[in-house]
Amino acid sequence: MARLKLAILISGRGSNMRALIGGCREGHIDAEVALVLSNKAEAAGLAHAAGAGIATKVIPHGDFPDRVSFDGAVDRALTTAGADFVCLAGFMRLLTPGFIAKWRDRMINIHPSLLPAFPGLDTHRRVLEAGVRITGCTVHFVRFETDTGPIIAQAAVPVLPSDDETRLADRVLAAEHRLYPVALRLVAEGRVRIDGERAVIDGLPAPIGPEDAGAAGGEALLINPGG
Ligand code: GRF
Repeated sequence: MARLKLAILISGRGSNMRALIGGCREGHIDAEVALVLSNKAEAAGLAHAAGAGIATKVIPHGDFPDRVSFDGAVDRALTTAGADFVCLAGFMRLLTPGFIAKWRDRMINIHPSLLPAFPGLDTHRRVLEAGVRITGCTVHFVRFETDTGPIIAQAAVPVLPSDDETRLADRVLAAEHRLYPVALRLVAEGRVRIDGERAVIDGLPAPIGPEDAGAAGGEALLINPGG
């Protein structure tokens, strides 16, 4: 499988972006980050990417009359950068069906819940309100409905009685930083195929670090091997 050329789309902090860049730089993920693109000039992640010598681009969504023209500009930027795979990492814009269709099976996202539970915004508040005892995060291919698509990997994270939104978000975010590089590595290794609308993993990945081998910090990585 040819080495992936990634575009990472962000809107803010970019901590998942950093985890992906780190995974590529350290040789855990056989991919190259060709571009970090943000719809917000103030996204903190841009400075980190630039500091790491990665090309960055800002395309402010407010400069465009509609979502289709904004997505068209994003698509052109990805093509110009030579990107062949897209990682959404806290990118807070709804993408249009045309863009999603063009990048079908070549675009993945991370969401801070165990999908299909709790798609959308305010995830951790709704998790706490629902009183669930286990939450987590999901890396999935992107389909038309928000936060849907074939699931590559999930990490389960306990919800503790003492949690508030911040504490829970922090615990889930730590799991995100472990999960996203593992999921991307599976894709980069050509181990992920889509069967119907399920992602199937051929073989289990070697762990990136000892904490990935199983439960760590109260969470477990859940990867679905085999057909
Ligand atoms: C993460 O919780 C991610 O799951 C969600 O948005 C947040 C982005 O955080 N989609 P960061 O910008 O990666 O730090």
